[in-house]
Amino acid sequence: MRVPMRTLLLAASLCAGCKPTPDSATPSGIETPIPAGDEGTASGVVPPPADEAELEAEPVAPDVAGLRAAALAAAGAAALQPKPRKAGRRKAMPTKGVQRIADWRALRGLKPKGEPGMVDWASMYFTVLPWVTLSPEGTMTMRWETRTRSPGGSGYVGLRVEEDPFSPPRYRNQELETRPRDGRVHEISGNIAGLFKPKYDVNGARARGYGELSWQLEQFQPEAGTTVLAEGRAAFRLEPKGESFELVQLPTVILGPFVHQVSASRFIVSFETDVATTAAIAVADRTPSVSKTPGRRHEITVDGLEAGTAYAYQVAVSDGVETSVAPARTVRTRSSTGPVRIAILSDSRSGVGPGREAYSGVNATVLTGLLAIAQRSGVEAIFFPGDLIDGYSTHVDDYVHEMRTWLRVAEPVAGSLPIYTGMGNHEAIVNMRADGVSLSKPGKDSAEARFASLMVNPSNGPAPEVDGAPSYDETVYSVDLGDVHLVMLNTNYWRTSHPGHPRNEGKGNREGFVMDGQMKWLEDDLSAARAAGAKQIVVMGHEPSFPVGGHIKDAMWWRGEIEAVNTMRERFWSILAEHEVLAYVSGDEHNYSRALIGPETVSGAKGSVYSVISGGSGAPYYAKVPPKEYAGQVQAFSAQQHVTLWTFEEGKPPHLDVIGLSGDVIESLELTQAGPGATP
Ligand SMILES: [Fe+2]
Repeated sequence: MRVPMRTLLLAASLCAGCKPTPDSATPSGIETPIPAGDEGTASGVVPPPADEAELEAEPVAPDVAGLRAAALAAAGAAALQPKPRKAGRRKAMPTKGVQRIADWRALRGLKPKGEPGMVDWASMYFTVLPWVTLSPEGTMTMRWETRTRSPGGSGYVGLRVEEDPFSPPRYRNQELETRPRDGRVHEISGNIAGLFKPKYDVNGARARGYGELSWQLEQFQPEAGTTVLAEGRAAFRLEPKGESFELVQLPTVILGPFVHQVSASRFIVSFETDVATTAAIAVADRTPSVSKTPGRRHEITVDGLEAGTAYAYQVAVSDGVETSVAPARTVRTRSSTGPVRIAILSDSRSGVGPGREAYSGVNATVLTGLLAIAQRSGVEAIFFPGDLIDGYSTHVDDYVHEMRTWLRVAEPVAGSLPIYTGMGNHEAIVNMRADGVSLSKPGKDSAEARFASLMVNPSNGPAPEVDGAPSYDETVYSVDLGDVHLVMLNTNYWRTSHPGHPRNEGKGNREGFVMDGQMKWLEDDLSAARAAGAKQIVVMGHEPSFPVGGHIKDAMWWRGEIEAVNTMRERFWSILAEHEVLAYVSGDEHNYSRALIGPETVSGAKGSVYSVISGGSGAPYYAKVPPKEYAGQVQAFSAQQHVTLWTFEEGKPPHLDVIGLSGDVIESLELTQAGPGATP
């Protein structure tokens, strides 16, 4: 295969020169974690030759003393005072009137009976998500509530293994819930002081006086016959007390940090904390950038950086009294020279499977493996066009919880590499009628608005299609990496199950239908990119124009039977062909396929465009059953779970590698039949 599969994880190779840097000015002596060295071939990916140029880059460790001081000073300036952590009840998820339906699809077959009522469909089993409190004597207490009476749960806890930021959390202790109070309100308590014995103290917490716990809850859900999981973190410090110590819980970064929109000179960092804090981020030895507005969600832009440089960065948060510092990560700014390498994959939603394969709407097992392969391959960015989660909820809280779970699973990679995300049909929050008619929730509760609030994507998309329709902000956008232009579309905008249904009052949009405003924006965006000298263009969206099996009944095809869809699709493909787009990459079909679609299928198209479907990140499988209209154009197919890797190098044809979950090469080829300079 042609993509240089470098031996080291990208961040590890960037951080090859990272050395632990004891901070003499900080009593606790924070260390920059040593990244895993030669990772070997755990995923089975062929080890590549080390890249000498990158091994030379030695990121400077962040100034942690300044970082702590900056976070604390910001808290002081904001007059932020911590609220005492209470062991009492937390805000409950809505339960009144919630009807749990095992399969929402069953609703589609229901006939309207008079004026239908609305149906609540909730996917989350926790009505109060688990949280932990730490007591001075070393007791960790986990509390949560469930929708129905349930047997006792099982809690797992361990010290976060800081030298390996890429692996999922690991645990040392298990505590069983022995006496659920009423079957819905749950609590587990256990003493965790044993974790600080020398043989378990993996990061040297006793010596340096601080650390972080990883915890997980496993709860059996009787009516579904499956287990639900939840996990989190709790930062702490150890207060010396004679020969022993007291455990003090600290404000904690519970989600992230993530890097976004990494350019040659800047990047954005986002993260979430368990309580309202101020925050500071240190990059190398620069003065920390500070977020002074107290809150739980933080976005900080770091700019003025050198191109093609690896930077170690670290985040500190403060509640006004206590301050904690998250483990350091590394990010590399864009290089102005050299090849552009990206990964594209989609459809990590779960659906069918146990445990981490159905972890709050996400197939965490497969997503973790494929993102690791992408990172090992040395890409500079990852694109994910849709179906991150199961979604399709009538509850905003469900959707947010599943999206946060996706972010949690992506976090080990997304702390060093930007992941550009798009919306799929499953990223849906709907008002659902008992007759099966559903329409996207409006306003701030629309799937689009909630997606944008959780992601940090570019905001250069079109205006809403009509008054009252959702914003396209952060769901439709384009970005340039060198002279490669990349476009993300929202092919599931303003989704309704029954377009034109009188009960939708004419609102909403058909699945897979690109409306006029977005289509015009695409045309203008591609023209501008060509005028600006883009050498290659790749367009992405969730719904395939030419599905090859599971979605020939919808996507952008709808069996070829709906005139408006046919007209829209032909216009869409003609725009791609006219601008010599290399490929339209979609998902929705949970497999890999590559077709070449041109004038033989789309009348009037001025050339051919690859139709690549990469939807193999964990959703249930589909077989190959392409319609006869373009079956002959399908050049490759695999039902394997996989990631696609794209390389754009000056003077060479674009190259595509398709890598399976076990690291094997599904296909590896030059893309010479579409885009500029295509050979017919
Ligand atoms: Fe889909």
